[in-house]
Amino acid sequence: MAVATTPGEFGAVVSGGAVGVGVDLGVDLLVQLQRADAKGVAGEVVSLPLFTGRTEILHLVGTGDGSPAALRKAGAALVRRTASVTTLRAALTQEADAAGLEGLIEGLLLAAYRFRLGHDDSPPELADIELLVDDPAALEPVRRRATVVVAATLLARDLVNTPSLEKSPGWLADQARQVTEPAGCSVRVRNERELAAEGFGGVLGVGMGSTRPPRLIEMCYDPPGARQHVVLVGKGITFDSGGLSIKTSEGMVAMKSDMAGGGAVIAAMSALQELGVPVKVTGLVPAAENMPSGSALRPGDVITQYGGKTVEVLNTDAEGRLVLADALAYADAVLDPDAVVDLATLTGAISVGLGRRDAGLYSTDEELAGELLAAAEAAGERLWRMPLVEDYRDTLDSPVADLANIGHKTYSGGSIVAALFLREFAGSRRWAHLDIAGAARADADEHEVTKGGTGFGVRLLLCWLAGLEREQRSGPGPAQRSSDS
Ligand code: BES
Ligand code: MN
Ligand code: ZN
Repeated sequence: MAVATTPGEFGAVVSGGAVGVGVDLGVDLLVQLQRADAKGVAGEVVSLPLFTGRTEILHLVGTGDGSPAALRKAGAALVRRTASVTTLRAALTQEADAAGLEGLIEGLLLAAYRFRLGHDDSPPELADIELLVDDPAALEPVRRRATVVVAATLLARDLVNTPSLEKSPGWLADQARQVTEPAGCSVRVRNERELAAEGFGGVLGVGMGSTRPPRLIEMCYDPPGARQHVVLVGKGITFDSGGLSIKTSEGMVAMKSDMAGGGAVIAAMSALQELGVPVKVTGLVPAAENMPSGSALRPGDVITQYGGKTVEVLNTDAEGRLVLADALAYADAVLDPDAVVDLATLTGAISVGLGRRDAGLYSTDEELAGELLAAAEAAGERLWRMPLVEDYRDTLDSPVADLANIGHKTYSGGSIVAALFLREFAGSRRWAHLDIAGAARADADEHEVTKGGTGFGVRLLLCWLAGLEREQRSGPGPAQRSSDS
């Protein structure tokens, strides 16, 4: 059993409806809180073993300022404390508004995640969470939406955490079909022959060193009445060894997660119908395994991207931009979107600048950038706007091709240069790029994030898409998440 505490003048106090819980259980909650020197800040948990009745342990959970972010932290802290518990009743929510409740549910369910390989059929540890609220019917839509968003995030984590031995480009395409077709999407997967026939030279080039051929996964959700069309592109490198520009063994260990952008796109597509997203969305995941071999792309090779631009590949480890360039050019030439957003574990450089929890946001469109920043804020994910520095563009000039895939000047700013490369393929579309190389994977459990794949991007994408307007292009921005309850 858990009840909420909040910061008071002299330490933590129990809030409103929770007081009665202490009376029922015969515990003076204020005395207990004082004894524990509790402050009521978000994430604090004071646990009291009880020796009577059906409640075995009472958790007094700090909820700070009661904001969605604080409640997300509180939910995560509570779940971590109750690791071996199967049933949890929480009276944390009497005063929480809809957005707060959504944060709490996200915290509880996201922190409870753990990755299981296919053969692990042990029962889930936390099987049942009962939230005690004043008006359950009114909050039912919130509960439903939060559980859908969480399920999509956990799906993205599963895709990232799956070892690359199993996770080939073909496997990823099969997964995309399995999760998005029942969710109202039509799916087309191009194999290596179709990719060659249509000129997807980036996906093919990166994939040609592997025995497991590349794929382009195209998922389409087209609800009745949609007037806008958004294209989501996700980098789907199922393993990044660096190719012939091979990584160190240390640099390679986490590279099963190099399809995290693609995983986020697949997972988001799987939730659009249930969330009633009003716009048409096409998801593109160029999937390839970047391996060194006798058939691999060589440094110095020149490839032709979709649409005809040529690229001199000076470093085969800068492969993400090659597969993304094909998808962006295809979206521009064929899909006629109103906006294109790509997500990619693109550069180690972004985490040098922003650390491991924030993603870099690049955009040629102020309005789109503003919408994504607002959606990220509302969804509890962090984006930081980065500049497309015009002066750095000429470092990508090549004497033998339209572009080189890495800079030849001494500019640093690796994440910016990569974004400038991608911009060349977005045409004049409203375009945004999220460099999620830091945020996609965590080294340890923290708050709602669990070690390994984080599912970064799913929540902000869904929040953004659900807030778009049915009728015209520029709406009021992402809906406040409390607006429909
Ligand atoms: N997948 C990597 C980026 C990456 C690095 C993701 C660390 C997550 C953690 C990407 O393909 C890559 O290798 N980028 C190179 C680019 C360089 C060769 C210009 C990098 O960041 O070093
Ligand atoms: Mn690479
Ligand atoms: Zn990569």
